[in-house]
Amino acid sequence: MFDFNFNWDGRLTLGIEQIDSQHQAFFQIGRHIEQILLIQCIGVTEQELMNILYDLREYVTYHFYDEETFMKTIHYPHIVQHIAEHESFKNYINSIDYTALCASPYKELTHLRNAIVEWVFEHMVKQDKDIEAYYQRLSS
Ligand SMILES: [Fe+2]
Repeated sequence: MFDFNFNWDGRLTLGIEQIDSQHQAFFQIGRHIEQILLIQCIGVTEQELMNILYDLREYVTYHFYDEETFMKTIHYPHIVQHIAEHESFKNYINSIDYTALCASPYKELTHLRNAIVEWVFEHMVKQDKDIEAYYQRLSS
């Protein structure tokens, strides 16, 4: 996986305050994982791994709900496909096995980090930016 360090890039901003701040919170979770990987998971505790999982599960619940509510409010036309992508990522996050994560944190966290980076480039950069494009046309 190429070098990506979860520094927020202003080009990802949608101009929808609540959603933007949630996306930035997601990047913080990514950065947290990245920092643990940088030190090869040395000293990482089960509590810390639990907190990461908790943060991610919470994120896919409240953030997707808010983003989907916003799409409904503006009658976004591609909402069905968008929600399907959310459901798929949510299922992945909810399926992460805590026991396996604690047993092989470096391997499992690397996999998780790669999945999050893929989500950024395949979903946030494309699908979420499309919401912005539609919203801009609506308000112009
Ligand atoms: Fe989305």
